[in-house]
Amino acid sequence: MDVRIGSSFASSVRGEAAINSTLPWGDADETVYLQSGRQSLRLLSELLWAEGYRRLVLPGYLCESMITPFEPRDWDIHFSPLGNRLRPDPNSYDELCLDRPDETVALFAEYFGRGLTAEARSAIARWTDRGVAVIDDRTHHLFDSGSSGATYTIGSLRKLLPVADGGFVQGLTVTPRLPGNAVDPSRTRWKAMDLMAARPNDPEPARELFAVAEAEVDVADEPAAISSRSLDELRFLDYPALSAARRANFGILIEQIDHLTVVNDDLDGGTPAFLVLRTPEPLVLQETLAKRGIFCPILWPRPPQLPPSVPWRDDLLSVPIDHRYGRHEMDYVAEALNEVATR
Ligand SMILES: Cc1ncc(COP(=O)(O)O)c(C=O)c1O
Repeated sequence: MDVRIGSSFASSVRGEAAINSTLPWGDADETVYLQSGRQSLRLLSELLWAEGYRRLVLPGYLCESMITPFEPRDWDIHFSPLGNRLRPDPNSYDELCLDRPDETVALFAEYFGRGLTAEARSAIARWTDRGVAVIDDRTHHLFDSGSSGATYTIGSLRKLLPVADGGFVQGLTVTPRLPGNAVDPSRTRWKAMDLMAARPNDPEPARELFAVAEAEVDVADEPAAISSRSLDELRFLDYPALSAARRANFGILIEQIDHLTVVNDDLDGGTPAFLVLRTPEPLVLQETLAKRGIFCPILWPRPPQLPPSVPWRDDLLSVPIDHRYGRHEMDYVAEALNEVATR
């Protein structure tokens, strides 16, 4: 059985008709589309610094690309510890934000597909009322509409959707300046995605291109407009089908796996981004599963910028459950997980 579950998306066959209605994360007229999530944060970092904000509250567990956009400015950074299930703790944000609210920017993120709780929404309202600039990062919960009430909303589109580039910002009241970059990372990544679609059984050449594209994303840190191909593609994706597949696949795994702890089974109505497992040795499990053709990312390695006083969770592994798969593949994944867990 030549199995490959997980890793980067190939380009997909387009639907017949473009969507004319609002995309799941909101109205296109009020959304500025950039190349990546980090560019969205970079744009807001510059804008808010210029407005006089100086304190930054970040989640105490995060992807390095959520910190780097703020590094060019001398932000006074505070980390809000996340709960056991890696959900933001409104009480800790309260303490960190309401000390000097009109100087504070709070980056708030529900990870792994969860929707925002009523408690989180009312906390966000409490902070914005006091003058805090709240940024809601929707990278992991793109499919479910509804505003959090944050001052700004951002997201990376390329993590959960088959597009080569894409990030967005909502809440801007001025048209932003988009300086652009010497390199456009979408070209290499579309090339890799097309190659993977054309030669699904020969992943090596595409893998090399994906690595080049990712290095290009790392240096393309100035805000720049999304590629026209990705912008166009976003109107042809069948979001209800993508979301339904994720929910169904997640359900199939949850139903079958034994002896393993799932971190994000508290979805609060959201669409799962991955099935996140707690495991004492994620690297060992990752390697064992890779030998069976199941590629699971560790979200995330500890960002090197984090001060030693910030504790880190290194007991997590994310299992892919996206629209490329159905019952057949999920049965295979569940069987592999159960076998590994009982060893
Ligand atoms: C929650 C979250 N926000 C923002 C980003 C940054 O997105 P990008 O990689 O498109 O810059 C990431 C990337 O992994 C992420 O996981």
